[in-house]
Amino acid sequence: MYTIPSHIQKEDPEFIENQKHYTQILDRHREIMHGVMKGGPDHAIEKHRMRGKLLARERIDLLLDPGTPFLELSALAAYGQYRDSFPAAGIVTGIGVIHGKEAVIIANDATVKGGTYVKETIRKHIRAQEIAMQNNLPCVYMVDSGGVFLPEQAEVFPDRDDFGRIFFNQARLSAQGCPQIALVMGSCTAGGAYIPAMSDETIIVKNQGTIFIGGPPLVKAATGEIVTPEELGGAEVHTTKSGVADHFAENDQHAISICRSIFETLQPGTKQMLDVIKPEEPDYDPAELTGILQADQKKQTDPYEIIARLTDGSRFHEFKSRYATTLVTGFARIMGYPVGIIANNGVLFAESSLKGTHFIQLCNFRKIPILFLQNITGFMVGKVYENAGLARDGSKLVHAVANASVPKITIITGGSYGAGNYAMAGRAFDPHFLFMWPGARISVMGGQQAAMVLAQVKIDQMEAKGQKADPTEIESMKESILKKYETEGSPYYSSSRLWDDGIIEPMQTRQVVAMAIAVSLNKPYGEPTSGVYRM
Ligand code: COA
Repeated sequence: MYTIPSHIQKEDPEFIENQKHYTQILDRHREIMHGVMKGGPDHAIEKHRMRGKLLARERIDLLLDPGTPFLELSALAAYGQYRDSFPAAGIVTGIGVIHGKEAVIIANDATVKGGTYVKETIRKHIRAQEIAMQNNLPCVYMVDSGGVFLPEQAEVFPDRDDFGRIFFNQARLSAQGCPQIALVMGSCTAGGAYIPAMSDETIIVKNQGTIFIGGPPLVKAATGEIVTPEELGGAEVHTTKSGVADHFAENDQHAISICRSIFETLQPGTKQMLDVIKPEEPDYDPAELTGILQADQKKQTDPYEIIARLTDGSRFHEFKSRYATTLVTGFARIMGYPVGIIANNGVLFAESSLKGTHFIQLCNFRKIPILFLQNITGFMVGKVYENAGLARDGSKLVHAVANASVPKITIITGGSYGAGNYAMAGRAFDPHFLFMWPGARISVMGGQQAAMVLAQVKIDQMEAKGQKADPTEIESMKESILKKYETEGSPYYSSSRLWDDGIIEPMQTRQVVAMAIAVSLNKPYGEPTSGVYRM
């Protein structure tokens, strides 16, 4: 491997301009994150504390091994929706280490509308379970929830990936051998009662946790019976009479210590072997990425400059450096873990697709996870390229990405447009993790292009009818499309809807990628299904 030579001049006006631009993006990002991390409104936090309860993130902190990181996922779920009354969609999910074992943690935030579930809460819960399934991880549920957010019932109740999917996933996780532990630290009503009921072991907190299919108001309405929550399904009842829960805890802290004790009894599964060495810092400072990422997205950001700030010692073993140069492929290490990198350096051509396909096969055979660095406007268009069979060669890359037998980790560093999103392991291609940088953009095509396409369609329609399009009408149509794409192409719009696993700062990327690879080792990688075809 060689050290990538950097050509950055920090005094260059373009570098300074880019840096100014990205610093503004990061400042705004940190402000948004700060607001979201606070949780629900002050009065709800106060009420929660008065009850002697810890906040969701405090509970997680106490559960994890001291000094170990927590990879929080989709903190910006539901951001900008529901008048921002669902920070983090009312649920904290992520991956942390408990007694030396990596685990998925799913914790309701009861300060956010009683920990109830809107669509994004469910998507977040389900996504966390999928990560547990994909990586063979134990799952901890810290339950404190009023169940479905009733005004939104049509959005959350009946469909395949709605509320019911949580319990379906629990059954599947269990059958797969992933241990599931529930800590009932608050309400656990209606369908939510199945979360502890379907877990391997359940802990319930005295005078605080309740589990029932129908709460006291429903019981009264249905049968006339008057009953208190404690009598119906409190800790005493469930640990002495019903047996729905297995462990009685005095308070949150006690419940967490019981959960940690359960983790001590879990045995390690079969791991994927990987040649991991001592981590090394890059030769170039990752903070320089802010000056490298082009403020003007029409200008190409140099992927080598990015790679040089992500890899150990800024080293890279490039594959096919002289061929199909709009796609950069090669091997490196990140925090000691081997990784195959596929990064965009312009539009995708037939040759770049073939190069990418060949490289993915190498990663499959060497059992090296693939890191996709997405900054792609799409595939090359035009008669010459179509006539030469661009769609056929592009499809080979799409096949290879979909069928890669090693984990894929995708970072959207710049633009993510059109079929380029798919070919570079977008969400539809099941990467193990997908994160965006805060200056990224994602949409089917750029707003400008979409406005032009739709204007042309309109003009052609009118001409076919023998009429002439009104230029003012066309202009206003273009403007409204541009505005729509401006909003919908934002990474915050994406993260709010769970199209990704979260927005991370460029400078955090090394740690996040390393953690993603470490987590993936809990499930042995698959075997390639064919030999290496030279493309
Ligand atoms: N749907 C919609 N909103 C709900 C809700 C639900 N299921 N449960 C609670 N909320 C809202 C409340 O209206 C309140 O909103 P506000 O802050 O805008 O006033 C907020 O969540 C907090 O509720 P509150 O009752 O003040 O908090 P609490 O901590 O004292 O109690 C619960 C929380 C969840 C125990 C209690 O609200 C409750 O029992 N809810 C009904 C649970 C239920 O029957 N769910 C069935 C779902 S299938």
